Amino acid sequence: MSGPIHPKRSDSEAGLRVRRARAADHAIILELTRALELDYPAMDLSCFWVAELGGPIVGVAELKDLETCSLLSCVGVREELQGRGIGRKLVDRVVQEALHPVYLYTLVPGFFRKAGFRDATSLPRDLPPRAIYGCLGCDPSRCLCLMRPREDT
Ligand SMILES: CC(C)(COP(=O)(O)OP(=O)(O)OC[C@H]1O[C@@H](n2cnc3c(N)ncnc32)[C@H](O)[C@@H]1OP(=O)(O)O)[C@@H](O)C(=O)NCCC(=O)NCCS
Repeated sequence: MSGPIHPKRSDSEAGLRVRRARAADHAIILELTRALELDYPAMDLSCFWVAELGGPIVGVAELKDLETCSLLSCVGVREELQGRGIGRKLVDRVVQEALHPVYLYTLVPGFFRKAGFRDATSLPRDLPPRAIYGCLGCDPSRCLCLMRPREDT
């Protein structure tokens, strides 16, 4: 009997590699964050991680370690590859590198809750306000602040 025609989720994950971004990746990070409308004025290319699937970059995430908390931003997967487990694997890997509990602002809390994030009940003093993202028509009732504690705490 022949194997499945369509790749399964596990097939996508098998060739996935998550690593820190290098200078050579910056152009593709800019392209992907713009295409997914994740780019923002204070974005720092030196804080990015990328997910490669068999070579090409298919996902990105920015992790900034602040004084008492870490800020996760710009989590995105190439549109045609969404829904195959890439975003989850990317987030799990990047969060492992955080120096502090990880905070984020998001319009897609369902994805992050599945990745172990929960409502942030109190905000660290050094957590930047959601206004840093400069979203037009910023709606705090839709943009939730979530956090994931460090696993060793
Ligand atoms: C959000 C995003 C990063 C998720 O990446 P992905 O690779 O598509 O997600 P995964 O396939 O790893 O999904 C992991 C789990 O989260 C769920 N999930 C994915 N997107 C979701 C969403 N928008 N809402 C709720 N749950 C979601 C999946 O169903 C899956 O659940 P399961 O483990 O029960 O099967 C991706 O869809 C994306 O790039 N979106 C556009 C940019 C964006 O909105 N980024 C977030 C900015 S804060």
